[in-house]
Amino acid sequence: MKILLRGGRVIDPAQNLEDVCDLLVVDGRVAALEKGIEADGETKVLDVEGCIVAPGFIDMHVHLREPGYEQKETIATGTRAAAAGGFTAVACMPNTQPVADCGAVIAYIRERVRQSGVVRVYPVGALSKGCKGEELAEIRDLVEAGAVAISDDGRPVMNGEVMRRALEYSRLFDIPVISHCEDLHLAADGVMHEGIMSTVLGLRGIPAAAEEVMVARDLILAGLTGGRLHLAHLSSAASVEMVRQAKERGLKVTAEVTPHHLCLTDEAVAGYDTSTKVNPPLRDEGHRAALAEGLAEGVIDVLATDHAPHAEEEKDVEYDLAPFGMVGLETAVPLVVTKLVKTGRLSWRRLVEVFSLQPARILKVPGGTLAVGSAADITVINPELEREVHVSRFYSQGKNSPFNGWRLQGWPVVTVVGGRLVMEEGKVLV
Ligand code: DOR
Repeated sequence: MKILLRGGRVIDPAQNLEDVCDLLVVDGRVAALEKGIEADGETKVLDVEGCIVAPGFIDMHVHLREPGYEQKETIATGTRAAAAGGFTAVACMPNTQPVADCGAVIAYIRERVRQSGVVRVYPVGALSKGCKGEELAEIRDLVEAGAVAISDDGRPVMNGEVMRRALEYSRLFDIPVISHCEDLHLAADGVMHEGIMSTVLGLRGIPAAAEEVMVARDLILAGLTGGRLHLAHLSSAASVEMVRQAKERGLKVTAEVTPHHLCLTDEAVAGYDTSTKVNPPLRDEGHRAALAEGLAEGVIDVLATDHAPHAEEEKDVEYDLAPFGMVGLETAVPLVVTKLVKTGRLSWRRLVEVFSLQPARILKVPGGTLAVGSAADITVINPELEREVHVSRFYSQGKNSPFNGWRLQGWPVVTVVGGRLVMEEGKVLV
C-alpha cells in the first residue's frame, strides 16, 4: 500500500523542517519526503495543499475504560475517537476494573487493542496495587508486559514514602512516573475551583493549593531519587512556576496541560453543566493564562486531553454528585488551533512538538518524526476548515463535552497509522 500526501506544509520539529513538500508512504514507513514526488498507478494520492502535515499526534493521557467500564468507553470506541481527532497513538490510564496493576491486565489490554483498536495504544501501569497508594505494584511485571509508564492517575499517591519508592524503582526501567497531584485533604469534597465563582455558585471549592503542595512534594522527591517525574494535567500558575525552577535546577521533570484547562475558566461552571466538572478543576483566568504561557515557552512539555468519558446517566445528576471528567479526543486539535494558534499564542511548530515529539520522547515510543524510514504515523490538519462540534456525532461513547455547539477551526482531516489510512475528512475508515 502506497500513499502520497501531495503539497502539504510539512512541520517536523525533530528534523527542523517546515516546508511545502510531498510525503510518500510505502509499506508502513515514510519512504520519501521531498518536492515533486511522482505517483505510480497503485498509489493512493491525497491532495493536502493548504494543510499541515505533521508526525502523528500522541495523546499520553486517555481513559479508555476497558476492562470494566465498557458503559463509558471501550478500546474500539476510544481508539476510533482518537483517529477521528487526529491522534495516531494514545497512552491509556490504569484506573480500570480490574486496575491495570499486573502484567496480566496489561497483556489483556494489548490483546483487546490487537482485536479492536485502530490507533496505537500504550498502556500505563498502576503505580500501586489497586491504585490505592499503599503498596507498590509489580512494576517489573508491568514493564515486561508492555507498560510504558506508571501512574495512579485519577487519584494521588498521598503516601510520600510510596511515591519515593516508585520514583526510585522506576529508574531501573527508565520509565516516567506520572503523578496526579492532589492533596485529598485540601481538596476535601470540593467540586470546582475555590474562588469567587465557587462562592457565587454555592459550590464547594478545591483550592489551587491542593495541587501545588503535591507538585512541590513530588519535585523534592524527584530531586532525592533522580527518578523521571511527569506531572499530569497541571492547572495552577504556581505549579508552572515550580516546574520552571525545577527544570532550571536540572531535575528530570516534564509536565502536561489539557486543552480544557487552556481554553476554559471556572466561569464555564456557571450553568452547572456537569461536563465542566473535571479534576483538577477549571481555574480562573490568571491560572489559565499562566498555563498557556508555560506551554508556549516550553516549561510545560505536552498537551494531553485527559479524555475521561462517562455514561450519560452518570453525568445527568446534580453537579455535586457527577463524576469528574470530560471527553477530549475529538475536540483537542481544533480547540487549541482556534484558541491558541489562530490567536498567535502558540506557533504551529510548538503545537506539533507538544502533541507529537514530546510525548514520544517522554514515553520513549516510536513516532514524533516524519524522517525517512520512520513509521508512517501522520496527522494532517486543515487550518481553515471550520465546523461545529456535535457530541452526537462523536465516535467516543462519552458525550460529556462542554464544547458542544462551539464553532472551531483547524480540524484534522487525515490520520495515518503505520501506513494505514484510518481517518479521512473526519470519517473513521476502519
Ligand atoms: O477529571 C478527571 N477524570 N480527572 C481524573 O484525574 C480522572 C478522570 C477519570 O478517570 O474520570
